[in-house]
This record gives sequence, structure tokens and C-alpha cells, in this order.
Amino acid sequence: MTERRRPLVVAIDGPAASGKSSTAKWVARELGLLHVDSGSLYRAATAAMLRAEPDATRWTEAMVLAAAAPIHLEPGETTFHPYLGGEDLEAELRGKAVTSNVSLVAQMPGVRAWVNRQVQAAAEGHPVVVDGRDMGTAVFPRARVKVFLVADPWERARRRLVQRLQRAPEDAEIAAEVDALTQRDAKDEAQTQQASDAVLIDTTYLTQEEQVERIVALARQALKGAPQD
Ligand code: CDP
Repeated sequence: MTERRRPLVVAIDGPAASGKSSTAKWVARELGLLHVDSGSLYRAATAAMLRAEPDATRWTEAMVLAAAAPIHLEPGETTFHPYLGGEDLEAELRGKAVTSNVSLVAQMPGVRAWVNRQVQAAAEGHPVVVDGRDMGTAVFPRARVKVFLVADPWERARRRLVQRLQRAPEDAEIAAEVDALTQRDAKDEAQTQQASDAVLIDTTYLTQEEQVERIVALARQALKGAPQD
């Protein structure tokens, strides 16, 4: 396939709570593409494993892969959702138990290969916006648009809490969330990679609308002259 005929992939990577998923979803809506959240698959595998064995110290890669085997992605209106059999796992994915154990699961090479296959399969049929930590490097090294989102940890923590609590958080709450995010960043360091050809966007002082506009503009630029996509 020639470079110009490959389906459009917009890859958005970045550390925890940098706004990847909400931005990716919005960008997908603006461009009429589908959104794939690779983190939701790591979270779904973790949720399935927690159901099978709540004690994470006993988990092995083979156990996680067996628990994750029935999980598949189904396209919703804008975003693919992970299903376990017929059950939409979405509600379970953002809980504390999943969040504190997901990095362990994400370090398992077999699990990474399983997630990458599912994400690539979803992108085969449709142009997509994908988000995660290694979409522009390991999973879609030839993606036509690559963005790496960063933001100050205090701002990331504040945004995550507003999303979770639906109110303005106290400073003490933000400080505790900064600790949690920083610890997860450290555990995820090896799998969080900025591609050398990714556009770095620091969103600390941007509104979500502004960051969406920038990425949409990059995608439109990439699509110029390639109307068959
Ligand atoms: O939204 P947030 O950044 O908090 O997390 P997420 O995107 O839902 O990802 C959850 C976890 O999955 C991360 O903490 C990583 O351990 C893992 N992950 C990964 O290793 N590689 C990816 N491409 C996406 C997620």
C-alpha cells in the first residue's frame, strides 16, 4: 500500500491523565473517525483478572492472558468499548482496584502483544484516532499524525479529580492524586514513549477545545491531497 493510501491513523500518546482519551474522543467526533482507547484494553484485562483472582501478587502472564481471552472490542457511536462475553466492562474500568494494578499487567509482554493486535485489528476496517502510551511507536509507527500530550502533574491531577468527583477538588485531594499519578507514571515509564516524529503539545495552559483544534488541524493537514482516505 502506498503511503497516501494507508487509512488514516491519528496516534495520541502521553502520561497518565494527560487528557488523551477525552481529547481523542473529541478529535474522532470532529473528523468522523472512530476512537480506540488502548488503555481500556489494559484496564479490561486487569478487571477480568481481578474477578478471577483478587490477589495480584499471584498473577502470572499466562493467568492474565487466559482471563483476557474472552475480551473483545465493539464499536460504539464514536468509541470502541471492551466487552467480556456480552458484558460492557466500561463501568468497572476506572475503579481504584483496576487503576492500582493495571501497570503490572501492562508490563507483561504477552499482554502488550494481545492489546496491540486488538487495536490494530480495530484500525484495519476504519480510519481511527488511537490513544495510549506507545501508539506512535510500537503499535502504529507509520501513523500519519502523531501527538504526545503532556501537562503539569498538578493540573493533570486536578482535571482527573474534576472528572471523577464532578466538583472542584481541595488542594489536599489534588496533592494525593499527584502522588498516585506520579507513582503510576514511574511504573509506566518503560512503556511510555514519545515518537521522534510526534508533535509535543503541553496542555497545561490550553483548554480542551484548543488542544482538540490543534490536533484536528494536524490531521486535516495530513489528509490534504489524500482524498481517497
Ligand atoms: O487515562 P490514563 O492515562 O489514566 O490511563 P489509561 O490510558 O486508561 O491506561 C491505563 C494503564 O494502561 C496505564 O497506566 C498503563 O499501565 C497501561 N497502558 C500502556 O501500558 N500502554 C498503552 N498504550 C496504554 C495504556
